[in-house]
Amino acid sequence: MAANIGTRSLARIAYSLHHEGKTNDEFERIGSGAFRIAFLHKPTGVVYKVNWGHNPIQDYTNAGERKVARILSRIEWDMVRIPKFSLFTFKCEDGTKFYVSACEYIEGSLGMDTPNAYGSKGWLEFSRKVRMGDMHGGNFLIDAEGKFCPVDLGSRVEVRV
Ligand SMILES: Nc1ncnc2c1ncn2[C@@H]1O[C@H](COP(=O)(O)OP(=O)(O)OP(=O)(O)O)[C@@H](O)[C@H]1O
Ligand SMILES: [Mg+2]
Repeated sequence: MAANIGTRSLARIAYSLHHEGKTNDEFERIGSGAFRIAFLHKPTGVVYKVNWGHNPIQDYTNAGERKVARILSRIEWDMVRIPKFSLFTFKCEDGTKFYVSACEYIEGSLGMDTPNAYGSKGWLEFSRKVRMGDMHGGNFLIDAEGKFCPVDLGSRVEVRV
């Protein structure tokens, strides 16, 4: 099972950085995608992902990500590294929920910046063992050991082994 990472109080602060316009020197905005903004908490090396807004499809990305992380971490890998993920759930005053995803920070080169990333041993292993949509060059990194590290697991997965 995927190990837990991050804390609820830091997840709440990451949410406030975006939705309440607060600032905090410990956090750095390191990236963003169609659904989420990624904040690195520098002292602990944990990335917190906050949805751009409130909408059930966007929230699925965070809620679904931990489920996929659990599925992927049960597989035996050689040149693939599945980061640790957690999910933090909060309730708004109107009773609706919002989610913050936490993920181990991966140091490496984004797929889109890595020549021949889709020819790497890690990618070939990943795509042989699972079928997963949306694994574009902003959704994985290649780390110092040359391992394929998916960091955005907000998509459907089909295990083939
Ligand atoms: N664990 C991590 N380590 C390093 N960088 C990360 C990590 N998680 C996210 N990032 C950076 O933040 C960016 C946005 O995160 P993510 O891909 O999860 O957002 P998204 O909105 O779900 O993306 P998409 O547009 O693919 O749906 C990534 O492209 C990557 O550059
Ligand atoms: Mg992404």
